[in-house]
Amino acid sequence: MSPALEHVVVRAPGKINLSLHVGGVDERGYHALATVFQAVNLYETVTATRADELSLAVDSEVPGEVPLDGTNLALRAAELLRAEFDVNLGAALHIRKQVPVAGGMAGGSADAAATLVALDRLWGLGLGSEHLRRLGARLGADVPFAMLGHTALGQGNGADLTTVLTHGEWTWLLAVPGGHLSTPEVFRRFDEIVAASGRGIVERPEIDGRQLQALSGGSLEMLADTLHNDLQVAAFALHPGLEPVVEAAERLGAHAAIVSGSGPTIAALVEDEASARTVAAGLMSDGLVESCLVARGSAPGASVLEAS
Ligand code: C5P
Repeated sequence: MSPALEHVVVRAPGKINLSLHVGGVDERGYHALATVFQAVNLYETVTATRADELSLAVDSEVPGEVPLDGTNLALRAAELLRAEFDVNLGAALHIRKQVPVAGGMAGGSADAAATLVALDRLWGLGLGSEHLRRLGARLGADVPFAMLGHTALGQGNGADLTTVLTHGEWTWLLAVPGGHLSTPEVFRRFDEIVAASGRGIVERPEIDGRQLQALSGGSLEMLADTLHNDLQVAAFALHPGLEPVVEAAERLGAHAAIVSGSGPTIAALVEDEASARTVAAGLMSDGLVESCLVARGSAPGASVLEAS
């Protein structure tokens, strides 16, 4: 038998949605989605250390309040494993955050994904990636993707994943405006907007095939042309500061910009880091955003950095 581990370090990436098509609602209140996720190299790093009790500390490189109570997804991930596998061990969890908090980039989901992977090792559960992904899906629709990483098509509520072939890398300027958007509220407003338009919901949303072509062929222009988010109109309606950021990012040289997921982070696709810096400087000097980050995609999914 291998000696018990004291300490496991796992990191998991944040994501953007290159496209997000939203359909009808199922009996649990989840919308049918067709989305293309891309993981970016902003990581949540979870250190799990052997301890009698379960505890959580967060140390953040990005602004925003992280809940430390039972609503925190990392704690919920730990509680899920304890309940499901009759574990009565504890762990001291420490999260180092690089993904904007509550920004539509699934930072909380990455925390949950990294915690599941770390505790699987620390507690010697030996669950394997497929089983961990299924457990992750019970915590949130974006958790399985934080485990898988790279670029993937998400269907169902977003948790049914298929890896997408890509060629090359992309540079993103992530603009973080002030304010907060609640994901359920953004989905609700989307439903209201669709109902008011009278055009009816698309029951089975589909991905634009040209986006998959752009990804496999490494075409920046075609990818820019196919960035799409059905939730954007709802996010604009709920947060009047967002539309000016998208417009300004494009005016300042981004190939295209969209709201990431349910927002409010704006993801702008740029040529390179120099262009990212120009767009960021313009947005900051116009006072349109609180902070900007430069990231590259795709990035790998949850991975163990250390186990000792
Ligand atoms: O799965 P997650 O906890 O991230 O979802 C947060 C909320 O977003 C859900 O409670 C639901 O209101 C909304 N949502 C949805 N359809 C999805 C994913 C999320 O309506 N496919």
